[in-house]
Amino acid sequence: MNIEFSERLKQLPPYLFMEIDKAKRAALTEGRDIINLGVGDPDQRTHQSIIDAMKKAVEDVNNHHYPFDAGVPQMRTEIALWVKKRFGVALDPQTEIYPLIGSKEGLAHLPLGIINPGDKVLLTDPAYPAYQAAVMFAGGRIQYLPLKASNGFLPKIQDIEDSKKARAIFICYPNNPTSATADKKFYQDLVAVCKARDIIIVSDLAYSEVYYGGIKPPSILEVEGAKDIAVEFHSFSKTYYMTGWRLGWACGNPTLVSALAKVKSNCDSGVFNAIQHAGIAALHIDPREIEDMRVEYETRRDALVNGLRAVGWKMEPPKATFYVWAKVPSKFENSLSCARAFLEQADMVVTPGVGFGKHGEGYVRMALTVPVERIHQAVERLRKVL
Ligand SMILES: Cc1ncc(COP(=O)(O)O)c(C=O)c1O
Repeated sequence: MNIEFSERLKQLPPYLFMEIDKAKRAALTEGRDIINLGVGDPDQRTHQSIIDAMKKAVEDVNNHHYPFDAGVPQMRTEIALWVKKRFGVALDPQTEIYPLIGSKEGLAHLPLGIINPGDKVLLTDPAYPAYQAAVMFAGGRIQYLPLKASNGFLPKIQDIEDSKKARAIFICYPNNPTSATADKKFYQDLVAVCKARDIIIVSDLAYSEVYYGGIKPPSILEVEGAKDIAVEFHSFSKTYYMTGWRLGWACGNPTLVSALAKVKSNCDSGVFNAIQHAGIAALHIDPREIEDMRVEYETRRDALVNGLRAVGWKMEPPKATFYVWAKVPSKFENSLSCARAFLEQADMVVTPGVGFGKHGEGYVRMALTVPVERIHQAVERLRKVL
C-alpha cells in the first residue's frame, strides 16, 4: 500500500531549515564546537521552588488521574490574580481562562474551533510558523500582512482595514522573530478596526516578561472592549525557564475560550495536574528571579549587539524577547547563504529570516540562549567571517 500524507499536510510549505539542520548535525557528529544561537529555548534550569512543587505534586495520588479538563481550579484563580496584578485586567477564572499544554498547543487548536474552511485569516509575515500550520489545518485561507522595519515591524492598520471579510488576525508582541514591541495605542487601533470589521484577534504574549529598560509590554486585554473580540495566549516557557514542562494558558473572550476548550476536550484530556501545581508555584516565585533573567538576557544582548557592531555589523538592540533580528551583512546574497557561511566558517548556528516568511528574507535571527562567554566567542569567530 502506498501511504500518502493528507492534502492538508502536503500543503505545508517546505521546511527551510532542513539544510542548516542537516549541516549542524553533521558538524556536531564531527565533534566541532558549535555555538547555537538558533534555538528559542532558554539554557537555564527551571527554578528550584517549581521543581520542588512538582516533586510534591507527583507524590500525591490525587494527581495521578485524568486532569480536570478546565484545569485545577486554584491554577485558574492564581492566573486571574497574576493577570490582574500584571496588566490590571479582571478575568473570570471559570469562563475566561483555560490552561494549555504549552501556548503552542492552544494556538494550534484554536483555529479548529473558530475557522471554517475557506475563511480568510490575517497573519503577519514574518511570523512564528505555528500560526500558519494551524490555519492551514483548519482549512483557512491566509492573507499575509508584511512586517517592515519602516513600520516598526507592526502590521499596518490600513492593510487590515482594506482586507475584505477576514475572520481572524494573529499577532504577537513582543514579536518572534523580529523582537518588535507594540504599545497600547497600537492595540487600541487594532481593536477599533477589528471590531468595526468583525475580526477575531488572537494575541500571542509568550514573551510578555522578557523586556528591557523597565518598559513592560502591555496586554491587548487592557484595551476597553478588547475582550469582546480577543483571546490572548500566555506561556510559562520563557518566563520561568519551563519550555520542556509544556504549560500555558488562553484567556479573554469567553466564547473564544470555550471554542478552544471544546476542541481540546476532543483531542487531549488537559494538563497533568502535577504540572499545574508546579505552574502555581511558578506564579509565586520571587519577582527578583524574573528580574535576574532580564538582567542576564540584557547582558548577553549587549555583548552580542555591541560586539558585532564593533566588528562592523550594524544592528539594533531588541527592546524585548531574547532574539536579535539583524539585517544580513551585504557580502551575503540572502539569509540562507549567510546562515550557511556562519556554520561553515564560524561553527555558529543562526536562523535564516526567510524561514519565518518571505518578508523575513534579508534578516537572520540570533537567540540569546547561550552564556555570555559563548557570545563573546561567537563575536570573535564572526570577526573573521564578516
Ligand atoms: C511567539 C511564540 N509563541 C508561542 C510559542 C510556544 O510556546 P510554548 O512553549 O508555550 O508552547 C513560542 C515558542 O518559541 C513562540 O516563540
